[in-house]
Amino acid sequence: MFTIEAKRVLTPVTKLIVVQAPMVARKARPGQFVILRCTESGERIPLTIADYDREKGTITLVYQEVGKTTRLLGRMGVGDAILDLVGPLGMPAELPREGRVLCVGGGVGVAPVYPKAKAMHEMGVDVVSIIGARSADLLILEEEMRAVSTAVYVATDDGSRGHHGFVSDVIKQLLERGEQFDEIIAVGPILMMRACVEVTRPYGVKTWVSMNPIMVDGTGMCGACRLSVDGKTKFCCVDGPMFDGHAVDWAEAVRRSRIYLEEEKIAVDHMNCAEGGCRP
Ligand code: FES
Repeated sequence: MFTIEAKRVLTPVTKLIVVQAPMVARKARPGQFVILRCTESGERIPLTIADYDREKGTITLVYQEVGKTTRLLGRMGVGDAILDLVGPLGMPAELPREGRVLCVGGGVGVAPVYPKAKAMHEMGVDVVSIIGARSADLLILEEEMRAVSTAVYVATDDGSRGHHGFVSDVIKQLLERGEQFDEIIAVGPILMMRACVEVTRPYGVKTWVSMNPIMVDGTGMCGACRLSVDGKTKFCCVDGPMFDGHAVDWAEAVRRSRIYLEEEKIAVDHMNCAEGGCRP
């Protein structure tokens, strides 16, 4: 169970794995995620399902090696098995079946955008996409996004590919030149999603965001993913992860996304230390 069937290195810090998980693959829908654990005493982490194949019984996960668990996962290879994996969790995204939708992915956020873009493309929606990263070598899933989009725009913070700047700049350019979208889906780091929402707000285009970055246990029990949407308390992992970005209290969400930064750093330091890489 949960054997890694394939692995691809997408960037120096981002990996894609295809995992045998037939029960999850059978039920998975775009927008949902799984919780997994690599070792008996390890933490559980939520990862969005980037793709699934019901016939082969596999799901695809994409992750960036930022913390201890994602680093451990990064060391696992084809044939290794993930200790446990639960899902699909969260509410499936409510995707339109027609019209024109702009899909925006920043960094590893392109991975959660992809299954939504793919599902809409299959239903006949005109999908236009923007993918971004800090630099060209950190862009992921460009080919996959091109296969399900009528146009793909690229943005990099350092200008090494496409627009020199942020994905939110490209949204602004498209809206300013009169491009019409029925909805926008933006997924990526919290600050990126906030910037996208502020760009689209004056145009009144419904903008969905995925609040995965503030999730911890992903089961509704830890309370870490609490956020205010339209003045009401919601839990990202059970009520979301997709929310109307114009209704999210972003100041609170930004605060929450930073709560465990120190603990995460300590865990990585301990890991480095245990492997002989202690800082003096
Ligand atoms: S992630 Fe813990 S309650 Fe949602």
